[in-house]
Amino acid sequence: MNGSRTFTMIKPDAVEKGVGGAILKQIQESGFKIIALKQTKLSLEQAQKFYFIHRERPFYNDLCSFMSSGPIIPAILEKENAVEDFRKLIGATNPANAEAGTIRKNYAESIDKNAIHGSDSDENAQIEGNFFFTEVERF
Ligand code: CMP
Repeated sequence: MNGSRTFTMIKPDAVEKGVGGAILKQIQESGFKIIALKQTKLSLEQAQKFYFIHRERPFYNDLCSFMSSGPIIPAILEKENAVEDFRKLIGATNPANAEAGTIRKNYAESIDKNAIHGSDSDENAQIEGNFFFTEVERF
């Protein structure tokens, strides 16, 4: 393996706008290798399971209903220092606070519809990647 891995999901707002390809291009041009990739759609129950860690947060219900509202593009990415570098590439959770040139500054609308997810630790990257991809879907 050349470096460490992180997990990402292009969210329903960005897929709906047709900018999934542009976002993947920016990710690849920033030095991340795509290890696994698909387009899929979460049921409400699957979104609730994925975001279980946020179950006590006031935005949990809205988050789960938004994340199950349309297709998403999950992926496993590889690069040296992947988790930290990817969070820099996507920018702040609230696009209003995201730096120029970041994916959220370029494509996100709001803190809810913020275009893309990035894992916050190596441990969560592994858990989240395992949620979507089997061994034979990774290259
Ligand atoms: P993400 O980090 O991908 O996963 C949790 C999501 O909850 C986060 O992106 C935001 O889109 C959403 N969210 C909505 N409101 C908030 C908030 N107040 N703080 C953090 N995340 C929020």
